[in-house]
Amino acid sequence: MLAEHNKEHYVLGHTARELDRLDLQGVIYEGVTRRTLLAGGLRPGMRVLDIGCGSGDVARLAAEIVGETGSVLGLDMDEQAIASAMARAAQWPGLNLSFRLGEASTAASIGQFDALIGRFVLMHQPDPATVLAQAVRAVRPGGLVIFVESHMAALLNGRHSTPFSPLYDEVVRWKCAVVGAVADIEAGYRLRQTFVAAGLPAPQLHAEAVVEGGADSVLYRYMAESIRSMLPMAAAHQITGFDEASVDTLEARLREDVVASGGVIVCWPAVGAWCQLPEKL
Ligand SMILES: C[S@@+](CC[C@H](N)C(=O)[O-])C[C@H]1O[C@@H](n2cnc3c(N)ncnc32)[C@H](O)[C@@H]1O
Repeated sequence: MLAEHNKEHYVLGHTARELDRLDLQGVIYEGVTRRTLLAGGLRPGMRVLDIGCGSGDVARLAAEIVGETGSVLGLDMDEQAIASAMARAAQWPGLNLSFRLGEASTAASIGQFDALIGRFVLMHQPDPATVLAQAVRAVRPGGLVIFVESHMAALLNGRHSTPFSPLYDEVVRWKCAVVGAVADIEAGYRLRQTFVAAGLPAPQLHAEAVVEGGADSVLYRYMAESIRSMLPMAAAHQITGFDEASVDTLEARLREDVVASGGVIVCWPAVGAWCQLPEKL
């Protein structure tokens, strides 16, 4: 059962450190996100709405694609996220990009867009199809709907490293337990059902996962910092296994483990889904 949807229940919170973690996440998921936006038909000149924009990485990618003749509006229900996105956007000159505080479900009251996009936001909705159906009212007939969601559950049962890393197994199981307590860790492969239940055409889909080894991988820090962000939520759900002290050394231990084995670890697969609305609704 998913938690009630409101900002108190957003699993990762919005501390400064969490917003940094979102930056790291932006680096890891930049490639698949750009590829999904392009596959979904995002083109120069389009007006785009990014729901659950967080600190603005997806909106920035979209703004690079639509160029100066297009525009991107990032919408998020959290004030700190919007403040962070606005501060970061000041460092990205030349992009037609703005941000605004608001609920995804109320998007239609903002205006009409050529495309609705979002990443890692439907997984946090107790009823993603309803939120999607509401948000899609902001899209013109013939417009685009493009989402990227992770499928965290894909890494369970040891399908996350070669050779098998017991430490990474602990990380994967812990994160799936914590996120799974309040959000959908199967949102990625469920995107087809979510689109259809929202009354949209069945989407085209693809999935990608970052696979890395070696000393320089950013995955060790990303995993450690995302666990740190989730410690309060884990405590609230009586999930033990990591604390501040063990997280402080986790990045180094994970790096050492993977480098020593000469192997790789797999990050959460990201699923891209996209469709075009009918010209006549
Ligand atoms: C995991 S973060 C993803 C941020 C960004 N899309 C990215 O990929 O970097 C999810 C974001 O969605 C926002 N969010 C969740 N549910 C929302 C809703 N119903 N309406 C608006 N924002 C929402 C949260 O505040 C959070 O900033």
